[in-house]
Amino acid sequence: MIQPVGSAMSDDHSFVGGAPALALARQRLRGDLASLYGAARAGALAEALIRIAGAAASARPAPLRALDQSRAADPAWFLSQRQLGYCAYVDRFCGTLANLPGRADWLADLGVTYLHLLPLLKMRAGDNDGGFAVSDFGAVDPRFGGPGDLARAADSLRARGISLCLDLVLNHVADDHPWAQAARAGDAHHRGFFHVLPDDEAVTRAERTLAEVFPASAPGNFTWSPDLGGWVWTTFYPFQWDLNWSNPDVLVAVAEALLDLANQGVESFRLDSVPYLWKRIGTACKDLPETHAVLGVLRTVADLACPGVLLKAEAVTATRHMSRYLGSEARPEAHLAYHNSLMVALWTSLAEETAEAVTDVIARTPAAPEATTWALYARCHDDIGWHLLITDDGPAARPRAEALSAFYGGGDSDFARGVTFQAGSGALATCGMSASLAGLEAAEISGDAGALAAAIARIRLIHALVLLLPGLPILYMGDEIGLLNDPDWRSRDRFAEDERGLNRPFMDWSRAATPVGDRVLATLRSLVSLRRENEAFRADAGCEIVPSGDARVLRVRRGTRLDRVDLLFNLSSEPVVVMIADLADPQLDLVSGDTAEPRFVLEPWAVVALVDSRP
Ligand code: GLC
Repeated sequence: MIQPVGSAMSDDHSFVGGAPALALARQRLRGDLASLYGAARAGALAEALIRIAGAAASARPAPLRALDQSRAADPAWFLSQRQLGYCAYVDRFCGTLANLPGRADWLADLGVTYLHLLPLLKMRAGDNDGGFAVSDFGAVDPRFGGPGDLARAADSLRARGISLCLDLVLNHVADDHPWAQAARAGDAHHRGFFHVLPDDEAVTRAERTLAEVFPASAPGNFTWSPDLGGWVWTTFYPFQWDLNWSNPDVLVAVAEALLDLANQGVESFRLDSVPYLWKRIGTACKDLPETHAVLGVLRTVADLACPGVLLKAEAVTATRHMSRYLGSEARPEAHLAYHNSLMVALWTSLAEETAEAVTDVIARTPAAPEATTWALYARCHDDIGWHLLITDDGPAARPRAEALSAFYGGGDSDFARGVTFQAGSGALATCGMSASLAGLEAAEISGDAGALAAAIARIRLIHALVLLLPGLPILYMGDEIGLLNDPDWRSRDRFAEDERGLNRPFMDWSRAATPVGDRVLATLRSLVSLRRENEAFRADAGCEIVPSGDARVLRVRRGTRLDRVDLLFNLSSEPVVVMIADLADPQLDLVSGDTAEPRFVLEPWAVVALVDSRP
């Protein structure tokens, strides 16, 4: 509950940025809060949030405050080419949080500086959407750790130069979260934390303009609650109750949860499913302006209390809308936003054997404001949604999306081994680990050496794009050793709700020592070194598409005139002759270490990174 505004204002000195930071925060908060809740309430709400931020700042442990200070002095710190992300489920990776330090060497050796651990807060028993149905923002799920384990894990990672990122699920809570329980017990205050529609007619009206996220496993957007005597808004699974952000008490409660986790050492938050936060019946309830105002408020509160913390928006949305989640320099939102469009384009180009999809998406990617960038990834714990092509290009793109779905999940390819997500619902999406989608599973089963080499070349190509284009690359657990799909996902205690379980396998530590695992690892390691050693791969270094002369080849120039690198990627299974006569002779290929002739053959799925090698 929001406390009335007291006479005591927060002490400027509790904030790293002092009085100027406080004045800026107050101004930004008032603007965003007025747009959300009206000018009359904005002032009091802003002071309530400032008070919460002040309390969090005063309670901030000294090492975190030191981190805040150094990052506030260098707000672009995470744009360095030496930053590398990794994403894992703690139980799949190492069992529990207490075991994490024992695996920190693996991460550090790989060059990882940012570890996103997928949901590990207390989650609903039984089905819980892979932990995205949170029962308590303040406690780790007992299977993964006890009190103090989160802070200890964060500290030990920090000592190795690794920032811990956790999900902050903003759109919903589990139906057994105390807020939902209180609402069910008849508490009017907490009923107001949710959207409750009175009858079928209201539901039908709202459904008219809404899409379905899980059409096969969770059709519809509302769930009848006998206790509430109404239909609760449930965009995802019926047990995930959407929060009512038009109630400012929700905003305050979530801000408190964020600051509390930050003070335990969480250095970054993945803001889950942000586009859905704000609802307005009669719209698609996605990407609404108020959602951005909410993000603006969370960013302002975090900047004030813990300026070293990064926010990362999970906004699976049209390419043209992506940068909105980064805000602007004058009014920032997230520091990072997932580049879902590039991820879809990588796999599209690989299937179509032309550079068209990747070239288009690079050309269409909106500029990222200063001190922000894209989170780049080849695979994650979710599906690959081909529907994005229709979102971006209109209904004419449907056959293309259908062909990709059939290619990766429907058996239309001779190498890809994925499955269709939400099968039978008409959804156009694929699940699978990158190695299985790139042909490694098929190659290992057949024992065909040529197929194996091709699969590894595809894995390298996909990861080269992720590592060398502008952004913070995030590797998905196991991709570094070519981990395959989990064949037993349906019988697992977690992740059996839908096909995404296929791409949530246990880490197979023994695979790193196999010839295949070792080859993939060596391949990815060399790409990581290439990235780390060259400032042209900073997230904010230039990125210009240069005509390659062949539709199968993407050519991109990274860096500035002085430190530029020309990258060429062959997206096809055929050797392509390329001309680089526009570059000074000789050119050194940083990938192979060879000198490139002005006219040379780019092998299937090959990558070269050319720099001047004149003395
Ligand atoms: C995000 C998560 C996904 C989850 C959904 C609902 O998209 O990545 O796994 O199902 O949000 O929380």
